[in-house]
Amino acid sequence: MTTKKMLADAQAGGYAVGAFNVENMEMVQAVIAAAEELCSPVILQTTPGTLGYAGVEMFFAMTRAQAATASVGVALHLDHGNSFDLAARAVQAGYTSVMYDGSQHPYEDNVAVSQRVTQMCHAMGLPVELELGTVGGKEDQLRSKGVAYTDPQQAVDFVEKTDPDSLAVAIGTAHGIYKGVPHIDVDLLSRIREVVSIPLVLHGSSGLDDAVVAQCVKRGVCKVNFATELRIAYTKAVREHLQEYSGTIDPKKFGVPARHAVAEGVKARIAIIGSEGKA
Ligand code: 13P
Ligand code: ZN
Ligand code: NA
Repeated sequence: MTTKKMLADAQAGGYAVGAFNVENMEMVQAVIAAAEELCSPVILQTTPGTLGYAGVEMFFAMTRAQAATASVGVALHLDHGNSFDLAARAVQAGYTSVMYDGSQHPYEDNVAVSQRVTQMCHAMGLPVELELGTVGGKEDQLRSKGVAYTDPQQAVDFVEKTDPDSLAVAIGTAHGIYKGVPHIDVDLLSRIREVVSIPLVLHGSSGLDDAVVAQCVKRGVCKVNFATELRIAYTKAVREHLQEYSGTIDPKKFGVPARHAVAEGVKARIAIIGSEGKA
């Protein structure tokens, strides 16, 4: 399904839907199985870097196959799409939700490409997430950015001009794990919420305390992105298996604990953001 109704329901219900970055088949299986177990709607997403590893067709096919085994709503979302062209390819492959992130470009350029992406996606009946302000840290292997907090008044202008279905806000979060305790400006989040009516999206959620994530959801975030912590859980499980059984040659042997570790991480976050039982 698309993220349109998913996020509208979340907004109306005062909870958020988790968007989990997947890198391979095991992660696709783990995320959907975890959501199914908790009867939660769920969003799977892939960055341009991940799509360089395996393309949109592969992730669409894996997601569709696993979603067919579940009864909960599943959406497949392009995360941090960096061009109109990639957005178009994702749509063509069957992705049900698209992010275009032009936040690192000058404002007018971000507006111009964002407008083209929303027009194209809306013509196909698909929702679009856009970003204003910058989330810190590495988004992909591609680039890193400084942090610029989202300006509420500029957000109003941006939403008016580009017509997105959700907006990623920059309130001090960063991709990856934080060095030290991050300062998350939840008051800024509330000020944005007051003037922007569409669902807001929190990026960079790995490494945030459960209480901070819950506070952001309470203040109007409807989609929460988790990537790094799932990669860490996956790889830690593989590493531990291989340390214990150094003779393993069958990828299935470490795929099982890795998948389990990802599913446990997803379930823990679903419990925090309140989407359990909402599918
Ligand atoms: P983390 O890697 O910090 O969880 O950020 C995820 C994200 O924002 C994906 O778009
Ligand atoms: Zn992000
Ligand atoms: Na983070």
